[in-house]
Amino acid sequence: MNNKNKLLITGASGFLGRVACSYFARDGWEVYGVAYQQRLGIDGITTLSCDLTDPAECKALFERVSPGAVLHLAAMSKPDACEQNPQESQRINVDASARLASLCADYQAKLVFTSTDLVFSGDKAPYQEDDPVEPINRYGEQKVRAEEVISWLYPDATIARMPLMFGPGVPGKPSFTEQLLASLQQRKTMRLFTDEYRTVVNAETAVQGLKLALDQPGATLHLGGKERWSRYAFGQLMAELVGLDADVFQPVKLADIQTAAHRPADACMSSERAFALGYSPASVRCQLKTVLDGLGGPGANR
Ligand SMILES: NC(=O)c1ccc[n+]([C@@H]2O[C@H](COP(=O)([O-])OP(=O)(O)OC[C@H]3O[C@@H](n4cnc5c(N)ncnc54)[C@H](OP(=O)(O)O)[C@@H]3O)[C@@H](O)[C@H]2O)c1
Repeated sequence: MNNKNKLLITGASGFLGRVACSYFARDGWEVYGVAYQQRLGIDGITTLSCDLTDPAECKALFERVSPGAVLHLAAMSKPDACEQNPQESQRINVDASARLASLCADYQAKLVFTSTDLVFSGDKAPYQEDDPVEPINRYGEQKVRAEEVISWLYPDATIARMPLMFGPGVPGKPSFTEQLLASLQQRKTMRLFTDEYRTVVNAETAVQGLKLALDQPGATLHLGGKERWSRYAFGQLMAELVGLDADVFQPVKLADIQTAAHRPADACMSSERAFALGYSPASVRCQLKTVLDGLGGPGANR
């Protein structure tokens, strides 16, 4: 049976996964979206539930779907949570990723693994794909370990390092973008870092990069945007686009706030390799306008 068009997406109920499922279904793939604790209802895809930390459930998942390609997005993706839950985060971020790599090798399925810009320390940006990794928190360490073990078990796997992404959140979990908008609309003070820089993109753009990554076996690709933004500057841009006062945003420095996980100051990535393949993020202003339109239009619910 030809299974090339069958795309298994783990983390389908997450921030990026929901966008990916809809995008690839529209793109003509037979999409199987895997959720865990959340319920998932996305038109045009088959939804499945699986605890990827359970070897038997993973095996059964592959027997059921027999995928031609896998986008492995599932993770404990919040650095503070990884710091506070070292064993649980290891099981999903590293052990489950290794298991999926072995299964993909057995099934000869393409595999794209979503890693992070937080594999870097943040003091030598912009980072190229071949720059040495030097994580400064547990989440970054686990992603490095996962990259290594995946590439060892399945050299054809593709590592896609994702930047900080913005866009709509998932039910019950407002995204950073939605928190900023709510802060502007409700005149609620929010502290934003002025000295933490990222090459941000919206989730829809990132997914276009993941599509390219599917055709780059064995590669490591950075899928960052073309611009360097701090969260504070991003908040200012949003205020301008929705026509609301930016004075709710308080500028703070990384050193001012204690978090469970250390945060790299400048994890900006150079994504020239992906740009040369046709990855072409629009300006952040333009991407954010699109996201705000989707959230109900600039200044909506003022
Ligand atoms: N968001 C960003 O800005 C960003 C930046 C860099 C890299 N990344 C990477 O990009 C990927 C997607 O991130 P995201 O923001 O979309 O993550 P997210 O919103 O936190 O979603 C995490 C997903 O993983 C699933 N999951 C967690 N534990 C699982 C388990 N034991 N078995 C099966 N599924 C499990 C969750 O399922 P349930 O919710 O159903 O339990 C959820 O669908 C991750 O690999 C993340 O590390 C994200």
